[in-house]
Amino acid sequence: MKYPKEYLDEIRNKIKVSEVVSKTVKLKRRGKEFVGLSPFTNEKTPSFTVNDQKGFYHCFSSAEHGNIFDFLMKTQSLKFGEAVKQLAALAGVPIYKFSKIDEQREKNWKLYEKILQDYESYCYKNLQSNNFLSVINYLEKRNINKTEIEKFRIGYSSKNNSFLKDNNNYTEEQIKMSGLFFYDENKKIYIERFRGRIVFPIKNLYGSTIAFGGRIFEKTNMAKYINSPETLFYKKGNNLYNINNLKNSINSDQENVLIVEGFTDVISLTKNQITNVVANQGTALTDSQLNLVWRFSKNPIICFDGDKSGNDAAVRAAEKLFLHLKPEHNIYFLFLPEDLDPDNFVSKFGNKKFVELTTSKITIYDFLWNYYLAQSDRNNPSSYAALEKKIKNLCSQIADKELNKHFLEYFLKKIYTLTPFSNNIKNSKKIKKLSVPLYETKTINTKNEKFSKRILKEFSLLYLMLNYPETCNENIEGISEIDFSSDELNKLKIELINDSLEKESPNKNEKYSDENGTFFKVIKNINQFAPIKNLILVSNDAKDRISELFSDIIGEINSLNTENEIEDLERQLASKMDENTFQNLKKLKSIQKKS
Ligand code: UTP
Ligand code: MN
Repeated sequence: MKYPKEYLDEIRNKIKVSEVVSKTVKLKRRGKEFVGLSPFTNEKTPSFTVNDQKGFYHCFSSAEHGNIFDFLMKTQSLKFGEAVKQLAALAGVPIYKFSKIDEQREKNWKLYEKILQDYESYCYKNLQSNNFLSVINYLEKRNINKTEIEKFRIGYSSKNNSFLKDNNNYTEEQIKMSGLFFYDENKKIYIERFRGRIVFPIKNLYGSTIAFGGRIFEKTNMAKYINSPETLFYKKGNNLYNINNLKNSINSDQENVLIVEGFTDVISLTKNQITNVVANQGTALTDSQLNLVWRFSKNPIICFDGDKSGNDAAVRAAEKLFLHLKPEHNIYFLFLPEDLDPDNFVSKFGNKKFVELTTSKITIYDFLWNYYLAQSDRNNPSSYAALEKKIKNLCSQIADKELNKHFLEYFLKKIYTLTPFSNNIKNSKKIKKLSVPLYETKTINTKNEKFSKRILKEFSLLYLMLNYPETCNENIEGISEIDFSSDELNKLKIELINDSLEKESPNKNEKYSDENGTFFKVIKNINQFAPIKNLILVSNDAKDRISELFSDIIGEINSLNTENEIEDLERQLASKMDENTFQNLKKLKSIQKKS
């Protein structure tokens, strides 16, 4: 009896090969892979590699190669079933109980897979024959040429409904469950659902064709696209078009996956070297699809049309998907210029412009905030109350408890900036407490991500210096000891110290606001990104509070210095054990503890 493929995949998806292998082989990371001494030979230099992304191990000295199940079978002489049971336990997946139903399901899957595969090949060959040049011409006009047709196995289903006539070996059962036909009661025949359409095979993660999408190419009043209906083996909301071609990049935070709407968007982007792209075929993205994409990238970007309907769709998606966010996993939104879909855009302007466009992406939570704020009426207190309620309610529904807390803080902080007066009087202590953990939190990608933690803190200090020269005066000693991360910032520091020492500096404002001034650009960054500005609720905030902020931030920058030094020493110690380094490390750690 065979285990269903989905069950084995579930186990494979839950445990990494390195996790299984490292129980018996000592592994060291090397780039995207791990290496170690082969368990299959007596080697002295490591030639055994493990690749978690591909889900395989490979031994170069013995040519042994396989997945987690193979590894246990080979190294512990287990039978396949025993290896599955052991790994299921490790993965926290229930032990599989075989039943008659499974047997039937397995048989049905084989039949299903076969007929869909045959249909794909049939339509593909149709298109390759010289009988449908008008279709080829149409595709060429859309920049879909031989390479794309081959890669995506695009085909054409002819109008004369000939698939079953040409292939008369299918069982009634197969025909019914394939989703490819409907029954014409009058003529008593099965009719091809996709006849007269260009067909796009939809594959699952493992490359099996599980459904089709079909596009009309002649003008008719029928739907532009139709899709396979849901079948035993095709659940629309669990799959994404092109998921089989995604490059695994979960280990790199930089890599994005684009989520677009249509087949042609995927094809055009791929043609323009943007290959990490999937399509949800025009329907709302489900949390199951989101989880699928997160396996490949922690920072997927969902593309929306730049018009009103695109924006409405984005709001609906944001409110739904926001609740499914996980720590370290994000969602970005990207809006296209009006009247262009990703296909039109990239075909017209090319790869570079599209990549440029993606820099305007916005996080799901900033998008939500902007939207709610725009909906609110500044002159209507009850509208702001509704905003606060809405946000609190939304955050409380986030499934992940940690995120729940941090997002609430993130938004509350923004809400407090809308009600400075009451916060200033009653809550100034409380707000500070609320905001600080957020300021430190690593799980939320703020907009500030292009600057390091250290630089952001330096920005904060400079921000205070720029805006509160009088209070700066009291902290000059602490400030002058700080060595900023760049020459430019150090120069600005000196300039600002001088400003604060001069009692009156009448042309100070002009000096910094002149577009050609030396510091114009850096000050613009400071004003935009200094996290501390969110802690200062009104510009005439109490003087002692500003003073407190000054000394906090100076203290934080200094403790970062210690933190960095400790990290360096630890690294040194890991590569060579030496008494001196150890003593230094001990000393620094005790300083860190005290501060
Ligand atoms: P669009 O209407 O944006 O089409 O639908 P498109 O991708 O730009 O297609 P072309 O460029 O005209 O060929 C986006 C997706 O929505 C689904 C399809 O999956 C399509 O790719 N759709 C659209 C349907 O399911 N039915 C329809 O009638 C239209
Ligand atoms: Mn289009």
